[in-house]
Amino acid sequence: MTTPSDPDEPEAPLWEQWAEQRKQLPTGERLQKVLASTGWGSRRTCEELIAEGRVTVNGDVAQLGRRVDPEQDRIEVDGAPVGVKPGLVYYLLNKPTGVVTTAKDTHGRRTVVDLVPSEPRVFPVGRLDVDTEGLLLLTNDGDLAHRITHPSHGVEKEYLVHVKGRVSQGGLRRLRDGVELDDGLTAPAAASQPSPGVLRLTIHEGRNRQVRRMCDAIGHPVLRLVRTRIGPITDRSLRPGDWRELSTGERRALAEAVATS
Ligand code: URA
Repeated sequence: MTTPSDPDEPEAPLWEQWAEQRKQLPTGERLQKVLASTGWGSRRTCEELIAEGRVTVNGDVAQLGRRVDPEQDRIEVDGAPVGVKPGLVYYLLNKPTGVVTTAKDTHGRRTVVDLVPSEPRVFPVGRLDVDTEGLLLLTNDGDLAHRITHPSHGVEKEYLVHVKGRVSQGGLRRLRDGVELDDGLTAPAAASQPSPGVLRLTIHEGRNRQVRRMCDAIGHPVLRLVRTRIGPITDRSLRPGDWRELSTGERRALAEAVATS
């Protein structure tokens, strides 16, 4: 028999009710707030993205009102991961010549990771030859790096190429239509010659030494090669050897580029 002197006994059911109610309370942050904070637009715009079924959380299409834990949940818009996990960094480096694109060089040469902060550890997205200059992304976001470099996404890369001699219209046409290399025909490219011997070339494949081999194939060896754009990312004021973090808008544009390409 219960005695009224037992103080715990009558309160236990109430406590259990509270515990049950607490479990049902929504936790985490509202999805539209998390999206808005990562640059996907106003909360209203983000609500529309959710309503249109373009946002998934851990693979499931999210409903309006959904709450998420940005540290645990995998959030994607149109299939592109939203970089909401704290600790992810995205650097844009203007790589100078003479620096190797690797995390660690076996010959002790200076590497691109030596030019950016050492913590957290980042790795280059794709590679530029030791003699190539220009824009290179470094990140610890493996998902995004994989998507950018994966051939199926075909993110555009634009190069300014100083070549030997002046390229004829026929040479430009060959670059545009595709050049036969020892690993097969290159995909159509955008090619123009803003001044004699200087080409602007946009490709979306990432084959080894591709631009140099394409130019060799049309009889105009490369004298200087500078990457000037990666998808939507460009920067004319970053000096060789300097780096900066991508802005939220740039991260978003990049995520969109890999999702739509
Ligand atoms: N194409 C090349 O030939 N070299 C690079 O570094 C990048 C693209």
